[in-house]
Amino acid sequence: MRIRRIQLMNFKPYKKLILPNEKDVFPRGLILIEGPNSTGKTSILDSIIWALWGPTAIGVKNEDLIKFGERRCRVMVEFEVDGKKYLIDRSYDRTAGMQVVLYQYDENKGKFVDIASKSGDVSKKIQEILQIDYKQALSTVMVRQGEVSELAVASPASLRELISKVYSLDLLEKVNDVLKKEENLLNEKLNELQSKYVPIERIEKQIKEKSSELENIKTKLKKLKEKLNELETKINELPNPNFIREIESTIVRIEDFEKQLVSMNKNIEESAKNMDITCEITTKVLDDEISKREQLLQEKLKELENIETQIRKLSEEIGGLQGLNRELEDKINKLQKAEKVEIGEFAYRCPICGTPLSKEKMEDIVRHYKKEIEENNLTIENLIKRRKNLEEECKKSHVEKEKILVEKSNLMSLKKRLEELENNEKNLIDLKNKFKEMLGKEGYNSVKEMLTKFNFKSLKELHQYIINLNEEYARKDTEVNKLVEDINKIEKEITDLQREKEEMEKIDKEIKETKKIQQHVTHLRRVLMKNFLSQWVVQKRLLGTIKHTAANYLLRFTCGQYSNVDLVPTKPTGERGSGILLTVLDESDGIIKSKDMLSFGDRTAVGLALRLGISKTMSRIKPLKESPQKTPRIRCVLLDEPLGGLDISRRKEVVDQLVEDEGFEQIFLITHMEIDRKEEIPRVIVRKEGNISVAEFVASKQEL
Ligand SMILES: Nc1ncnc2c1ncn2[C@@H]1O[C@H](COP(=O)(O)OP(=O)(O)OP(=O)(O)O)[C@@H](O)[C@H]1O
Ligand SMILES: [Mg+2]
Repeated sequence: MRIRRIQLMNFKPYKKLILPNEKDVFPRGLILIEGPNSTGKTSILDSIIWALWGPTAIGVKNEDLIKFGERRCRVMVEFEVDGKKYLIDRSYDRTAGMQVVLYQYDENKGKFVDIASKSGDVSKKIQEILQIDYKQALSTVMVRQGEVSELAVASPASLRELISKVYSLDLLEKVNDVLKKEENLLNEKLNELQSKYVPIERIEKQIKEKSSELENIKTKLKKLKEKLNELETKINELPNPNFIREIESTIVRIEDFEKQLVSMNKNIEESAKNMDITCEITTKVLDDEISKREQLLQEKLKELENIETQIRKLSEEIGGLQGLNRELEDKINKLQKAEKVEIGEFAYRCPICGTPLSKEKMEDIVRHYKKEIEENNLTIENLIKRRKNLEEECKKSHVEKEKILVEKSNLMSLKKRLEELENNEKNLIDLKNKFKEMLGKEGYNSVKEMLTKFNFKSLKELHQYIINLNEEYARKDTEVNKLVEDINKIEKEITDLQREKEEMEKIDKEIKETKKIQQHVTHLRRVLMKNFLSQWVVQKRLLGTIKHTAANYLLRFTCGQYSNVDLVPTKPTGERGSGILLTVLDESDGIIKSKDMLSFGDRTAVGLALRLGISKTMSRIKPLKESPQKTPRIRCVLLDEPLGGLDISRRKEVVDQLVEDEGFEQIFLITHMEIDRKEEIPRVIVRKEGNISVAEFVASKQEL
């Protein structure tokens, strides 16, 4: 880095300052900033640090940076890094607060263009450009007043931390963190894999057990199937149970039929006997008997009709005679009545023609009439007797007719039963034929033949035997199915186990590989951190270079008194490795001295030498060969009163060294001390005019 120009407005004691001036820029090499105490030298260094990194870097509140009595301060620093020009413009207003803008010079446009304007963005960009943060800068290139011996008295741990940061060794520490993270991830993965892992031998044992179980079941199944086949053959040889059942039921039906026929027959015979039929009963016999009864019935009916006709005739005759008698009695009454009506006249009249009759005549007629009535009554009596006899006869005939009717009806019912019987007999024969046919179809002539064939006494026994065999077959079949199911289940289990075994083999392989990687990573990290980083890199290579460069400065700054700067790694503590202990060899007494054995002036010289040694080498040294090449960036040193503790000879050596030093692009040296041949060095002269500071740039004589 090279500072080209700075401009201050109301910053600390300055009202307005442009350095070197509005037209020129600061030269390369050493630039002195000189002036009496309290004139504003440090304020210039502060302005640069504040502009680049803000208030925390200088540890002063923004308010305290504004010139007394003003509202707003502003600093603009124009600088160059790697041939690119930048301008940072930072201001602070008591009310509006902080404002910062970073510009980059655009060669094409011929002007500065802003590249960041938010505080965070600007910090990021500055870090990117300078490749250093303010803490590192303040420990190395920016030497604030009174802090020059800081490194000489630093603790081994903080010295190591500084070196580690400045030389990007923290990159390796980051690698360590990455490796640690990777180790943790691998550990997690390993734990997960191990939690999933089931020992392969255990699975193999299970497979073996399952396989032998499977074999046993298969043998059992084979035997059972043989038994089942035997049973099947046996069952196939025997008649079908349905056939047997049908035969049995047909036999029962035949027997029932036969019983029924016997009872019907008996019944018919009894009925015939009751009807006095002694001969063999046939339909014809019954038909004859029925027609006989029919004939008798007809005769009876005729006879009845005849009797009834006679009775009717007799009744008519009786009725006629009785009517005649009534007429005669009426006539008698009328004849006798006329005599009584015409008393004294003796005049009687014929009731028919009215002819007057004498009493004798009348009495003669009455007598005649009465005789006739008597004779009629006798006839009526006879007729009634005859009718009664006929009625008796009729009654009897009726009874006989009824009897014939009953007999006829009985005969007809008998005939019906006989026909039924005959029909049943025919049906029985049909059933028997069917039964025979049924047996014949199965190849038997009779049930007996079938029973003999299978050596059974009864159909029931044979049937039971077939049922038993079928039941046994069903039981065995169920057993077979169960075994087949078991086999499928075990086979599936074996397949699953084999799959699991394959998976476990994969997991096992993965565990081994992961373990190997984990061991590598752990080994790598240990080697890197303990051996490579702390010993090889830091001690042998890096520390060697720093030591060498710092020793050159120190030898010169102490006019040859101190040589051989040594940076010794202390014992590692924890994972982060060792600290670094600084010692120097005092040539005057040959004693190797650590910080506590050094004088104040020695510490100043050692601190400055170490800072310059580190500052000079920091951009050039890479922690690893493979690390990306960094171009030297902040090759600019600002030293605020580093010469205070040095005697005149050492001071001269330091200034001479800085004048000649080509390891830096630019060195600002603030001092109020008198320096030899200072006209040869470009200077900023600071003084106070009243309570305002002013500064002026004076170029070196050579330049002029
Ligand atoms: N905010 C401020 N406004 C005005 N003046 C200020 C302000 N802050 C500090 N000062 C003045 O600035 C001066 C200090 O400046 P500075 O520290 O830069 O001096 P110096 O030249 O480095 O002195 P020394 O040689 O003692 O180190 C003092 O006079 C102080 O009063
Ligand atoms: Mg000062």
